[in-house]
Amino acid sequence: MTPFDLRVEYLTNPLAIKSRTPRLSWTIPLEGGRRQTACQIIASTSTDAALWDTGRIESDQSVHVRYAGKPLTSRDRVDWKVRIWDETGAASDYSDTATFEVALAIDDWAANWISAAPRPPADQELTEADQSIASIRGDRRFWPSPHLRRAFQLRTGIASARLSITARGAYEASINGRRIGSTELAPGWTDYHKRIEFQTFDVTDMLTAGDNAIGVILGDSWYSGYVGFNGKREFYGVDPELLAQLEVVYKDGSRDTIVTDNTWRWTYGPILYSDLLEGESYDARRELGAWTEAGYDDRDWQSANAGSGLGSAELEPQIDLPITVTQDLTPKSITALSGGRYLVDMGQNMVGHLRLRVRGEAGTKVTLRHVEMLQPDGEVYITNLRAARQTDEYILSGKGEETFEPRFTFHGFRYVEVAGYPGALMAEDVTGRVVESETETAGEIETGHAMVNQLIKNIVWGQRGNFISVPTDCPQRDERLGWMGDAQVFVRTATFNRNVAPFFTKWLTDVRDAQHDDGIYTDVCPSISFAGKGAPAWTDAGVIVPWTIYQMYGDVDILVASYDSMAKYVDALDAANPDGLWLNNRNNDYGDWLSIEADTPKEVLATAYFAYDALLMSRIAAVLKKEADQKRFVQLFEKIKAAFNKAYVAEDGKIHGDTQTVYLLALQMSLLDPTKRPEAVRRLVADIDAKGGHLSTGFIGVGYLCPILTEYGHADVAYKLLLNETYPSWGYSIAQGATTIWERWDGWTEHKGFQDPGMNSFNHYSLGSVGEWLYRRVAGIDIDPAVPGFKHIVMRPEPCRKLGYVKSAVRSLYGRIESAWCFDGDDWAWDVTVPANTTATAYLPTAILANVDGIGSGAESTVTDGRLCLTLEPGQYSFRVKSPLEAR
Ligand code: BGC
Repeated sequence: MTPFDLRVEYLTNPLAIKSRTPRLSWTIPLEGGRRQTACQIIASTSTDAALWDTGRIESDQSVHVRYAGKPLTSRDRVDWKVRIWDETGAASDYSDTATFEVALAIDDWAANWISAAPRPPADQELTEADQSIASIRGDRRFWPSPHLRRAFQLRTGIASARLSITARGAYEASINGRRIGSTELAPGWTDYHKRIEFQTFDVTDMLTAGDNAIGVILGDSWYSGYVGFNGKREFYGVDPELLAQLEVVYKDGSRDTIVTDNTWRWTYGPILYSDLLEGESYDARRELGAWTEAGYDDRDWQSANAGSGLGSAELEPQIDLPITVTQDLTPKSITALSGGRYLVDMGQNMVGHLRLRVRGEAGTKVTLRHVEMLQPDGEVYITNLRAARQTDEYILSGKGEETFEPRFTFHGFRYVEVAGYPGALMAEDVTGRVVESETETAGEIETGHAMVNQLIKNIVWGQRGNFISVPTDCPQRDERLGWMGDAQVFVRTATFNRNVAPFFTKWLTDVRDAQHDDGIYTDVCPSISFAGKGAPAWTDAGVIVPWTIYQMYGDVDILVASYDSMAKYVDALDAANPDGLWLNNRNNDYGDWLSIEADTPKEVLATAYFAYDALLMSRIAAVLKKEADQKRFVQLFEKIKAAFNKAYVAEDGKIHGDTQTVYLLALQMSLLDPTKRPEAVRRLVADIDAKGGHLSTGFIGVGYLCPILTEYGHADVAYKLLLNETYPSWGYSIAQGATTIWERWDGWTEHKGFQDPGMNSFNHYSLGSVGEWLYRRVAGIDIDPAVPGFKHIVMRPEPCRKLGYVKSAVRSLYGRIESAWCFDGDDWAWDVTVPANTTATAYLPTAILANVDGIGSGAESTVTDGRLCLTLEPGQYSFRVKSPLEAR
């Protein structure tokens, strides 16, 4: 029962922790004891063996245990280990030692921001000299990537070295010819005016006594490149800049520090331009040779421009994991097109770029156009990309076999048109490199139904392709923004697929940074200039996302960090809408975006969300023990609920608008008294029936559809919607070959072909919010809102014969939770794993104890909602139910 998988703020052996009182977590194996009753943590640094020894603490807490040893300071490297006692009083061995390091503190930074020669801003005419440097296409201009380098000497006896580095823009760094780390587009996207994250790398093994060199390439990325749909660049600044500090510690304790300053040299290299939307152009004839190695002659290079100091933005260590290449795909097929072109089909709508191998004459130009779909004539369909060209160019050096991989761009695509390729393009020349923010896999789920399995894959691919530093709406057209509405409808699904706690913790800083002074949040975060105040169901992400992260990970810190901001937001809504109906300040007022011939009145949707905010705030205040606030928010909720019922709920139970979504909102947001709920459910089901068993919900309603139907006793209707293959349904897009979730139910139909290309993404995760229900009620793995973070697990699957079987697991902070069920003749068999240091309540689909095999003799059961309900200790169980309730 030795604890394993030690974490600090969710991360394994992190090198740059911001908090001086970070939270520690460990997992207890299921073998051996079942529960932790006490633990002991021992932590040390190289100079202080007695940094922290908790002695034996009587506590069952094994996640988010706050460091409370001697004060930590900048650069501290802490070794720690833990042992536990189980319920029998037996002690475990100590775990393996884990480490964490405290990030370089602001006061310890001695570096300055440096850059190449300043460029003219986008609204300024170009001189002739500038025109020879820039690439110009229509009214858009693009700039080459500066390469910056610094040679330096080190003494013998290097003990350790850390590089802390960031950019206004994106960087790729190398030391002595070797790339540092594997990050893509680092430092990622924040509001660079307010906050810039840095990364810290252990570069000890890359350095040597004597001559060394460091080299960094800069790209524009979100900082100075084109972002969003209004054709603008330079949202944060004109010139990409670099900030880096290399600290080398010698065995004798002395230290050398190399920082960015005006002793660095710069020049332009082979990257003619790189832009997130446009793509990258690379002229291999302009490669610089071994410029990141010592001894390189940089006499022709220029001195870097150096600013002084760190600037006014907060400089912070990265909270989440970096963007990296997480998978390589090989093409499904390559076919020849006219004019010597090739069409590469990756078989999967993916996000990232291609790596291309090529051999040919110097100056030959290969052009790669990335698209999601094909036209009926088999040519690439570019119209839905709007102004995003997603086109890479490679000009050959002619020096034998060459490999091209763009650095500072990403594309959303399944197909690539390759033009100008010399010779025959073979599958082995092409690799699809999948780029995303690293998030660990949490959930796995498989069923006996092929379409549902494809849906599960599509949901996961939609998440991966859109979690790139921030949760975006889409990864391909000229948009790719952190839309709040999309994030809030999908966040719970995201937590089941992957461990996204660090990812959303980071994004919530963007959300708070974007908040307007009066408390109102924006539609997109990070906010860019066109994003004013946001709309109902979008801005509410500011409350819903922290609450969901707390629920799924038991993370109280996220509530603490967001509390004042959330309270200010809800108070601002209240001040603007004192009568309890959200009628004022709805701004872009998107409503139930992209619903199907069902117009949910926007004031109903808005008021429901206003109520939900108040309800969640009352719960959040209770968690944080803010009693006065809790009461205040309960009162606010009651006021809104009363106003909602008065204004929108008729005597006969009809809710204004009478759409599926109005009933879903009223039920989900607890707006109806118990006596009124059955009628709302009846009307919801009747509407689905009247539509031939189809949904009509848009982005907002869809996430509540299957969960609410199931909660109110209509799992059969939820399954009908899940298994539909006719329009509109998830299955419809899959029948058309979708490998990701589409933005619209009718992105392409056999009758109309493509929807309006002005807004038709084939990789938008929002409608994939059904994913949470697949875990919570199909597999039956859910949190208990009262004991969050899977400390107490609710296991309540809804059997469905058409699915045949479900096999699923969720990796929680406590370990792996498993649920697998199948029909076996007339019996229903269910295998369950409850990880150590948790408990579970299992609901069996029968009320009759005698119908179930596998219940231990001492086990106590009750009957709730017609189901046997068992409390499970950690362990593995196999149940077999004869005559289960559902034989659908
Ligand atoms: C985006 C959405 C977003 C919406 C606002 C669209 O352009 O792609 O996903 O939420 O605008 O309604």
